[in-house]
Formats: sequence, C-alpha cells, structure tokens
Amino acid sequence: MELPSVKPVGAPARATLPLMGVRGVTVEYPGVRALDNVTVDFMAGEIHAIVGENGAGKSTLMKVLSGALTPNAGELLRNGELTTLRGPRAAIRAGISMVHQELNLVATLSVAENVLLGREPTFLAGIAVDRSQQRERARALLAMLGAEMDLDRAVSELSIADCQYVEIAKCLASEAQVLILDEPTAVLGEHEASKLLQLLRRLRDEGRAV
Ligand SMILES: Nc1ncnc2c1ncn2[C@@H]1O[C@H](COP(=O)(O)OP(=O)(O)OP(=O)(O)O)[C@@H](O)[C@H]1O
Ligand SMILES: [Mg+2]
Repeated sequence: MELPSVKPVGAPARATLPLMGVRGVTVEYPGVRALDNVTVDFMAGEIHAIVGENGAGKSTLMKVLSGALTPNAGELLRNGELTTLRGPRAAIRAGISMVHQELNLVATLSVAENVLLGREPTFLAGIAVDRSQQRERARALLAMLGAEMDLDRAVSELSIADCQYVEIAKCLASEAQVLILDEPTAVLGEHEASKLLQLLRRLRDEGRAV
C-alpha cells in the first residue's frame, strides 16, 4: 500500500537517542495520584503500547507527553534534551501530535478544516504550499484508513467512527515525529482497526515513534 505523500522525517530509524522520554513524572489530580514517578523512553522506529486497567493513568501519561498536561514533578525529554511543552501548539512545533481518547474536533467545521486545523499554510522559500495539496493528503489518509467521506461535510453530521477517522487523519497529517494515539481503535471495527495498525507500522518504518 502506498502512503500518501507524508514527508520523510529527519531522524533515522532506530536512532540510539530516544525521540521522547519522561523522567520521574508524577501527576496528581485532587485526591488521586494518577502517575507516580514514571520514567520511560520512546524510540524512533518503534511502536509502543501502553497497557493498563481503567484509571491506571494511560491517558494522563499521554497528555503529559503531548503538552496537554503539566506534571507536578518530573522531566520531559525531546531528543535527549530537557523540554517543557506549554500546550498543544508547543507540542505541534516540537513535532508531537496526539489523538485524544475523548475526541477534540470542532463540530461546526468541515472534515477538511478539522484535519488541517492548527496547521497554517507552510512557506517554502516564501512560496505558500498549496492548500489543495494538503486537502488531497487529508483525503488520501482517510482513504487509506478505509474512510471515504465528503471533505466539506460538517463534523457534527458524522458518525462517531468517522469522527475518529478525522482525528487520526489530523494526527497523521501533522507530519509529527512523535504520534500519540489514545485508544484509537476503540470505536473502529476489526477491519478498520487492522488498516490503522498497518498504517502505523508504515509510519514507524519511516522513523517515527508511535
Ligand atoms: N481531570 C481529572 N480530574 C481528576 N481526576 C482525574 C482526571 N483525569 C483523570 N483522573 C483520574 O486519574 C486516574 C488516571 O486516569 P486516566 O484517564 O489517565 O486513566 P486511563 O488509564 O487512561 O483509564 P481508561 O482506561 O479508563 O482510559 C483515574 O483515577 C482518574 O479517575
Ligand atoms: Mg484513558
């Protein structure tokens, strides 16, 4: 299967330095310690699965990694260097993209607008990269997931599974080196889930961390 023009990422597969990591991360919500001194590395060219029962802290860890949540203690590392991510925009600039368990789409915007949200047109040597090219990529990514839908349809009119596809396409379209997906197959059928996993393996082989 041909991956639609996703730009190659800089880091070689299986680099020795983790693309991302956390050291001693602790997160406390009122009355509950969700993460207690967690240390873990995420390598380029690898898919990592975080497994745990309900309430174990999986989503919390992913939110720390994507800058959605600032930990009470501990450090975040990007390419081996200490970093702080102040919010999702900082994460996108750092090449980190996340699909949240609770979907995060703008209901009134179209499929295409949601996929491309937060991505201003890029400029190469002063020339704006064609927006319609980005639309094409959005369409191609959705098609690869087996989700062919009208790019101009409002997200409020979509089924939950189609919303999930839009979220995943948005994550993939970001060209991030670090892709974080929180229970992305939860609302997908078996066939759709296996298509997604196939696509993720492809992205891994390009040197991303998933
Ligand atoms: N915003 C919040 N405010 C207060 N407590 C929270 C908040 N978010 C999560 N928690 C609590 O923190 C703990 C970890 O939650 P988290 O959502 O990270 O778990 P999870 O492993 O993703 O669970 P699930 O499998 O249900 O998605 C749980 O006890 C949860 O109730
Ligand atoms: Mg969760």
